[in-house]
Amino acid sequence: EMYMDRQNSLGRDYSQADVRARHTAALEKVDSEKLTSGPLIGGKLKAGINPTDVTNPFDRSQVLGHVSEASEADIDTAADLAARAQIDWDRQGGGKRAIVLRAMADALEAEMDRLVALLSREAGKTLNDGVAEVREAADFLRYYALLAERDFGGAETLKGPVGEVNQLILHGRGVFACISPWNFPLAIFTGQVAAALAAGNAVLAKPAEQTPLIAAEAVRLYHKAGLDADLLALVPGRGETVGAKLVSHPGVDGVAFTGGTDTASAINRSLAARPGAIIPFIAETGGLNAMFVDTTALREQVIDDVILSAFGSAGQRCSALRILYAPKDSADSLIEGLKGALAAQVVADPTDPATDIGPVIDAESHKALEAHVERLSKEAKIIARAALPEGASKGDLFAPAIAEIPTADFLEREVFGPVLHVYRYDPKDLKTVAGKLAARGYGLTLGVHSRIEAFAEEVVRRVPAGNVYINRSITGAVVGVQPFGGEGLSGTGPKAGGPNSLIRFASEKAISNNI
Ligand code: NAD
Ligand code: ALA
Repeated sequence: EMYMDRQNSLGRDYSQADVRARHTAALEKVDSEKLTSGPLIGGKLKAGINPTDVTNPFDRSQVLGHVSEASEADIDTAADLAARAQIDWDRQGGGKRAIVLRAMADALEAEMDRLVALLSREAGKTLNDGVAEVREAADFLRYYALLAERDFGGAETLKGPVGEVNQLILHGRGVFACISPWNFPLAIFTGQVAAALAAGNAVLAKPAEQTPLIAAEAVRLYHKAGLDADLLALVPGRGETVGAKLVSHPGVDGVAFTGGTDTASAINRSLAARPGAIIPFIAETGGLNAMFVDTTALREQVIDDVILSAFGSAGQRCSALRILYAPKDSADSLIEGLKGALAAQVVADPTDPATDIGPVIDAESHKALEAHVERLSKEAKIIARAALPEGASKGDLFAPAIAEIPTADFLEREVFGPVLHVYRYDPKDLKTVAGKLAARGYGLTLGVHSRIEAFAEEVVRRVPAGNVYINRSITGAVVGVQPFGGEGLSGTGPKAGGPNSLIRFASEKAISNNI
């Protein structure tokens, strides 16, 4: 019942003049400030090393602020403070911790306008995506607060022999390193930290290189919301240097990671090599997400759901649709519809309420996506490309594309951006087609569009996925409603925003007392 009483965070309507005015004011404020990020240790901003500018992905000439990386000494200090503070935090129990998490959720909602502005400027998020992200961050906090109360509220007494008291207690593991990606720089950053804290751990949080400003904002808000500053340090920097140091640091007792599959493998190898330690590793990674359509599906609904799933958030969601399996008998009509719908998408400045698709995150990603389109134009067939506005070349706007691929397993790995691949298949060959996709080893999201239940069941049986969506879009999992996370190459679990989210952040202790 505890799940029924929950209320997720509420949205914003940008067609309202007062909402828009607040948004404009927040943007102007963010633009006028010199934002700073860097090692935030014991609540203080340290000098750090290797300072760099942080720029706007839509307009690279706009410098938003700067960030410096955590040095080795910064990481040592942060780990020491965290280890000391963790003991009390763990003892306080889930009830006390829930109060701080809820205060942080309230603080995020109170700062919604500023955070949305910053998400657009630093991460290229559209307004709706920015709002969704602040809401998701608040939802994670409130949901994990409930789990903290449920799972860490005291010992569970177990049945045993007369004269003996048997109890099971969950407690924090110590200091967690939380390593996050740029594509949900607030929701995933805040959610990982919230899960680790809820379970009684202290945290060293490393944001992605691309989004250190929003992360600093989140850490400052956690501290303002009443969290002992020693319990949460921000240690920004590059993955290969600062990330790698964190993972191999003897003061780190667990690692929670969200990002690419290859990075997860590298971290896994590094953890395995740590002498004298067995370190729990929670990884949420990429996917080769597919949607299978049959001829009974409702064409208009398929088109809407495909456009949203493949191109929403500029395709920069781990859950985004990469491959559409279109039945050969209706593929032409579907493709025509998709072409028209793509042409109607507005690719532009993400701070404009009319924009559907903003920029991709950085020049490196932009280049990789253009190289992929180049490959598709040679080895497959480009069937549509969205238009870019005139003179939009100051940043990393990328024209979304649809391509038809010649084989069911043309894609070997995740391509992270707004490129949809369509494969025409004969539903009679589902077994072979699904088998080839499954052999790639991913298992994140999966969609089916069909009015025949047996077809949907067969797809679900044959294609591995942690999150399955039938007759709807395949993105936008809601905390507590669609617990999110993959299997195989897509992640270890436990799912984020689900009833088991905190388990791997904790150790279990069984105490038998023969009174
Ligand atoms: P990434 O793997 O490049 O980076 C993620 C984080 O890992 C960053 O903070 C980075 O600095 C750090 N890192 C890189 N190398 C490291 C190393 N050797 N040691 C320690 N840390 C290191 O991923 P990204 O480009 O930031 O994010 C996009 C990827 O994230 C996509 O593959 C996407 O599918 C995935 N993702 C998955 C989920 C999920 O829940 N399954 C959610 C969001 C994003
Ligand atoms: N949780 C995010 C989604 O479902 C990644 O789109």
